[in-house]
Amino acid sequence: MPATIVVGTQWGDEGKGKFTDLLAKEMAMVVRYQGGHNAGHTLVVNGERFALQLVPSGVLYEHIVPVIGNGVVVDPFVLLKEMAMLESRGVDTSRIRVSGNAHLIMPYHQQLDALHERHLGKAKLGTTKRGIGPAYADKSMRLGIRVQDLLDEEIFRAKIDAALGHANKVLTKVFNRLPIDPVQLADRVLAECLEPLRPHISDSVNLIHEALEAGQNVLFEGAQATFLDLDHGTYPFVTSSNPIAGGACAGAGIGPKHIDSVLGIAKAYVTRVGAGPFPTELFDADGERMVEIGREFGTNTGRRRRPGWFDAVMLRHAVRLNSLTELAITKLDVLDSFDTVKLCVAYDIDGRRVEHLPYHQSELHRATPIYEEFPGWKTDLTAATEPSHLPRPAANYLRRLEEQVGVPVSLVSTGPGREQFIHWSASGTNAA
Ligand code: IMP
Repeated sequence: MPATIVVGTQWGDEGKGKFTDLLAKEMAMVVRYQGGHNAGHTLVVNGERFALQLVPSGVLYEHIVPVIGNGVVVDPFVLLKEMAMLESRGVDTSRIRVSGNAHLIMPYHQQLDALHERHLGKAKLGTTKRGIGPAYADKSMRLGIRVQDLLDEEIFRAKIDAALGHANKVLTKVFNRLPIDPVQLADRVLAECLEPLRPHISDSVNLIHEALEAGQNVLFEGAQATFLDLDHGTYPFVTSSNPIAGGACAGAGIGPKHIDSVLGIAKAYVTRVGAGPFPTELFDADGERMVEIGREFGTNTGRRRRPGWFDAVMLRHAVRLNSLTELAITKLDVLDSFDTVKLCVAYDIDGRRVEHLPYHQSELHRATPIYEEFPGWKTDLTAATEPSHLPRPAANYLRRLEEQVGVPVSLVSTGPGREQFIHWSASGTNAA
C-alpha cells in the first residue's frame, strides 16, 4: 500500500474525489501532482457538500497532511480563498503544504487563456479559462514564477518583470490589450498572498520521502484524467499536464519503484467537457437522462458535460498507460432507470473491427462503437452496500465490463455519499 496513485481513466469528472476521500482514512498524506484549479472535486461528508479545486481532498481528515506537489500550478488567490472557505466551515487548513517548486498562476495567465480561446474561434479547445495552459507554457519557456520566489522579494519582482516583459508584448501587440504593470502586480501578490501562504510553503519532496521512509501510506491524487493527458490524450483537446500515473513521479518527486498500486476511477458511463473526439457520445434521450440524473454539469464552471456509453476500448488503453492494478466504478446508480445498458467493446473504423485505441486521431473521429447491450436492472441501487445487494443484470454488466477491461473492479459507487459504495472484490468474481 504505502504509495498509491488514484487516476481518472476517462475524460475527467469520474468521481475521483469520493474514492480518494474513502482511501484517505488509511493515509497519512495526500499529494496532488499536476493540474490546478481547473479540477473540481465534490465530496459529500455527513450530508455536507464540499467543492474543492486545489486543496487535496484529504484535508477533511485531521490526521492527513495534504500536499500540493511541484507539478501543480497554483493560483495563490484561489488557494487562499479555498482555505478561507474551508476554515469558515470548521475545517483546519494549517496542515496544508505547498511545494516551493510549484508554479504560480498569475492574473495574466488567466487573461491569456481566455484570449487564446477567443482567438481560436471555432477551433477553441473549451478550456476552463483558469490560466492553466499559459502557466505551464511559461514553465516550459523558463519564464514561470515558482511558489518559492514569493519568499525572496527581489527575485519575485525580477521574475514578474521578466515574465511580463514577454506577456505584455503578447497582450498589447497580439491581442490589442492594455499592458499589466509589473510593480503593481508584484505589490498586490506580495501584500495579499505572502504572509498567509508562508507557513504552508515547503520542501514537498523531502516531506513525501520522509513519510514513505517511515512506512506511512501516501496517496497521490491525479486531477483531470488519462485522456486529457498532454502526451496521451486526444491532443490538442487536452489539459497542459500529465494526469497519467507516470505524472506522479515527476509532479511529486518520486521514482517509479515507489509506486505500489494504481487505482483507476471510471464512471459507469462516460462524460467529457469541452471539445474533442468522443466515439460513444450520445445525442439522444439516453444521453439527456445521464446528464440529468448524473447532474453532469461542471463543479466549477457549470458547463454541461457531453454524455456517452462506457468505452472498454479506451479503458484497456488506460490500463496500459497507467499500469492500473484495480478499478473503481462510479455512478452505477445513474443507470438504474435505463431499459438497456450498453458497453462499447470495439470500434468499427472504415468497416474494420478495431479493439485497441487507434493511434491516429482521424481514425478515432471516424470510429463508430460496437456495443454489447444488456438488460437494465430497473432497481434503485442507492442503498446497495454489498455485492449481494446488486440485482443480477447490474452484476452481469459489471462482470462483463471487468472482463473487457482486464483489471479487477474493487469498488463500486452507488451514490454521492461517503457510505454509498460496494466492495465489489468481495463478490469473488473479479476478472484478474
Ligand atoms: P484546461 O485544463 O483548462 O486547459 O482545459 C483543457 C481541457 O481539459 C478542456 O477540454 C477542459 O474542459 C478539460 N478539463 C480541465 N480540467 C478538467 C476537469 O477537472 N474535469 C474535466 N475536464 C477538465
